[in-house]
Amino acid sequence: MSGVAVSKDNEDAPRAQEDLVVLSGVNKHFGALHVLQDIDLTIGRGEVVVVIGPSGSGKSTLCRTINRLETIDAGTITIDGKPLPAEGRELARLRSDVGMVFQSFNLFAHKTVLENVMLGQVKVRRTAKGEAEAKARALLERVGVAAQADKYPAQLSGGQQQRVAIARALAMGPKVMLFDEPTSALDPEMINEVLEVMQQLAREGMTMVVVTHEMGFARSAADRVVFMADGRIVEQATPEEFFSNPRSDRAKDFLSKILHH
Ligand SMILES: Nc1ncnc2c1ncn2[C@@H]1O[C@H](COP(=O)(O)OP(=O)(O)OP(=O)(O)O)[C@@H](O)[C@H]1O
Ligand SMILES: [Mg+2]
Repeated sequence: MSGVAVSKDNEDAPRAQEDLVVLSGVNKHFGALHVLQDIDLTIGRGEVVVVIGPSGSGKSTLCRTINRLETIDAGTITIDGKPLPAEGRELARLRSDVGMVFQSFNLFAHKTVLENVMLGQVKVRRTAKGEAEAKARALLERVGVAAQADKYPAQLSGGQQQRVAIARALAMGPKVMLFDEPTSALDPEMINEVLEVMQQLAREGMTMVVVTHEMGFARSAADRVVFMADGRIVEQATPEEFFSNPRSDRAKDFLSKILHH
C-alpha cells in the first residue's frame, strides 16, 4: 500500500512511509443500505489521499468513521497503531488528533474568529490561554485571515470562514486532516484561496484525506486518488495513472461526466 505513494520532492525516490491511518475490513450499514463494503485503506504519514466518486457512494461516511462521528459494524480502524476509542476523554483526544473540515464551516457563531481557534486548545488540549492565543494568531496569519481575528464568523466571506475552520482544526496539532468537500459551498472566486491553503499544508507534509470534486487539486496535490462507488473502493492509483488511464467502467463513466460538462 505504502508503495503507491511517491514523495513529491523527489519523484525518483519512493518514500518509505509509516502507516498512519489503517482501515481494515470496514463495513457499515444504514438500515438496509450497505454504505461501506469491505473497505481496506491505508494512509501513510504525510500522504495526501483524494477520495472521489459519485454522490451517495459513501465518501462522507468514510471520512466520518475515521474520527468516529459514525460507528462501524465490522472491521477495524487504527490511527498511529491504536484502535479508535469508543467514548469519553480518549474520544475527545482522538477527535483533536483528526482534524475535520466540512462543506459547511461549522464555526461557533457567537465566538470571535480568534476565540474559535483558541477554544479547543484550551478546553481539550489544556493549553494555557496566552499560548493558545499566540498559536491562534500565528495560524490565522498562515491562512491569511489575521486581520479578521476579532470579527464574528458571519462578518467573514465563505472563503475566509473556511480558512478559519482550517486554522481551528490545525490549532489542535492534528496527526491527520480530513476535508469533506471543503470548497463545495463556496462562490467560485473563493475556491482558490481555500485550495491554496490546502496545497500549502500538503507541501508541508500534513497527512490529508480530501473528498473533493476539484480535479485540479487532485492532480497537483494528491499522492493517490481513491475512487469509490456503491460503498466500495473500486480503484486507486496515482493521479497521473487514474486520470489518464482509469481501469474500471465506473471510473471512466464518472470521469467523462465530471471532465466534459
Ligand atoms: N445518517 C444516515 N442515515 C441513513 N442513510 C444515510 C445517512 N448518511 C448517509 N446515508 C446514505 O448513505 C449513502 C452514502 O452517503 P454519503 O453521504 O457517505 O455519500 P457521499 O459519497 O458523501 O455523497 P455526496 O457526494 O452526495 O456527498 C447515501 O445513500 C446516503 O443517503
Ligand atoms: Mg458527501
